[in-house]
Amino acid sequence: MLDDPELDDDDYDALLDELRALEAADPLLVTPDSPTQRIGGEPVSSLPKVRHEIPMLSLANARSEEELRAWVARMRAHLAREGIEQPAFQFVCEPKIDGLAISLRYEDGILAQGATRGNGEIGEDVTHNLRTIPTIPLRLNPTHPAPPVLEVRGELYMSLQDFAALNERRAEAGLSTFMNPRNAAAGTIRQLDPRLARERPLSMWSYGIGRVDGLAFEGHWEALQWLRAHGFRVNEDIRLLQSEDEVVAQCLAWQERRGSLDFEIDGVVVKVSDLELQRRLGVVGRDPRWAIAWKFPPTTKVTTLKDIMWNVGKFGDLHPFAVLEPVHVGGVTVKLATLHNEEDLARKDLREGDEVIVLRAGDVIPQVLSPAPHATERPDRAAPPRPPERCPACDTPTVKPPEGVFTKCPNRICPGRQWQLLKHFVSRGAMDIDGIGEKQVYGLQQAGLVRTPADFYRLTAEQLVELEGYGEISATRAVENIAESKGRPFGRLLFAIGLEEVGFVTGRNLAQRFRTIDALLAASAEEIEQTSGVGPKMAQKICEQLADPQLRTLIEDLRSVGVSMELEGPPPGEGPLAGKTFVLTGTLPDLTREQATERIEAAGGRVTSGVSKKTDYVVAGASPGTKLAKAERLGVAVLDETGLLALLG
Ligand code: IVH
Repeated sequence: MLDDPELDDDDYDALLDELRALEAADPLLVTPDSPTQRIGGEPVSSLPKVRHEIPMLSLANARSEEELRAWVARMRAHLAREGIEQPAFQFVCEPKIDGLAISLRYEDGILAQGATRGNGEIGEDVTHNLRTIPTIPLRLNPTHPAPPVLEVRGELYMSLQDFAALNERRAEAGLSTFMNPRNAAAGTIRQLDPRLARERPLSMWSYGIGRVDGLAFEGHWEALQWLRAHGFRVNEDIRLLQSEDEVVAQCLAWQERRGSLDFEIDGVVVKVSDLELQRRLGVVGRDPRWAIAWKFPPTTKVTTLKDIMWNVGKFGDLHPFAVLEPVHVGGVTVKLATLHNEEDLARKDLREGDEVIVLRAGDVIPQVLSPAPHATERPDRAAPPRPPERCPACDTPTVKPPEGVFTKCPNRICPGRQWQLLKHFVSRGAMDIDGIGEKQVYGLQQAGLVRTPADFYRLTAEQLVELEGYGEISATRAVENIAESKGRPFGRLLFAIGLEEVGFVTGRNLAQRFRTIDALLAASAEEIEQTSGVGPKMAQKICEQLADPQLRTLIEDLRSVGVSMELEGPPPGEGPLAGKTFVLTGTLPDLTREQATERIEAAGGRVTSGVSKKTDYVVAGASPGTKLAKAERLGVAVLDETGLLALLG
């Protein structure tokens, strides 16, 4: 099954590397269904038109139980007019995914062409992008003989999680955000350069077959089962139902579940399964008589944009958000919504006091889409919003860096900025302080006990007990956890103190390159640029921040409370594990994966993802992946946690 891969990701990557090397040595070995082809080939210069041999139809809608029952009555009336005996209908109920329809043509079992629906008759060739999508098979499962021609149809979509992450990245980069996952998917699939599609994860649910040669199915239900058996992703929750009543109940059940799915659906598609009956029922205009879309109530509402306010981010960026007249939409009451950035705000032309359209579907963060129709015609409309001249959290005059998209609060110790920094500081990838989460940080900041990250290290259990949510035991434990975090690897500290451009990996690389905070603080931009993964612009930015007196104060303050500021262990190429390569698999009893990696690296060893003959040790914990089997096959030494700790001495 596509959702349940036989190999774990790392093993897959290792095999892929091997295959890539083979293909590079002998290009004749490259087949169109080779997994290396998923990487996406060269950009195309245009999207050629593709005529669909069998038109891609649309669907009539039903918005209520009555309309659904009326549809069944219309089918019965049509069959009666044609003199056909009344059947016992079998219905297939499927989610109506809110994406875009595509058609995939397989020739002798190999993906030959993929196209958008277009106007139903003519679409566009987007094969280069479709190839990059992991849920689209490049080849049919070879367990059955492949039909000479098979056209599979389905819906392309972006998951809600991927959509939210994509918009966040775009907002950060000052790019326009997508209105909804459907637009994001549509915008992606029509790109000329397949590398873009690869970076924006898309997926597909298959829901039907167009042309097929050399195969016959009795019903749509059987066709879907066949597709699933041949490697296509068919929703697990589709149902074959025997009566109108069951169909109504199923539609209502999907409506209930709508908000808990990881993709957007805007209804349920109900199809008569029997293909012979489908043929007899035929098509009216563009809509087949044998299918209907039960549409959910809309998830957009109109409300008043009461205020546009600004939040301060970790690096001082001012992010606009909307304060709305509370409105019930998509199953929840929405009072606040993100507005992403200034340019997005200007593009949407939103003003305080406007009637606006608010969208909330599934888990998508509520969004303000646009002013409501006619809202922009009001004579007394407010002026376009402007970012505040003074920081809303600390009143410092704001600045707009020429190269940036965000107006900024330049004050490093601004409480708004500190709140974001403090949350980041204790978070998992950073100093990883157990027992201090967002709620506790808020309480500590409100109580005036913690203003900067160094203040965490001065807290006592007595102070914590005074706060809501702490008992004696949990307070003592939190203080112990805070103290324990003083010894976190230097790279994590560099990440935790909130430097722009310094993520987890860059933090680790800087730590490895400079080894102590003093060496880093003394480094020039040119020297910082020598760090792996750091370019000239980034180096300049890091260097500037390290010179900031407020940051220097924070560093000295952290040093004074005993936070470790140097890389432990031997220099590169030295240490007990120098030159040794490790692969981790499964869950170790005590160490997390990051901890094990850090310990191995601190001893001079290297941790890689895939097992090969060059691997020195595989460290296996509970429920190991296929890496363990592979290690055994290749004769690579296998250790458990105790064995690893012994090696580490
Ligand atoms: S069948 C036979 N099944 O809805 C009619 N369409 O309104 C052809 N859609 O263009 C479509 N989920 O993009 C069908 N399970 C599903 C669907 C589905 C979403 C979309 C599809 C189509 C549109 C028609």
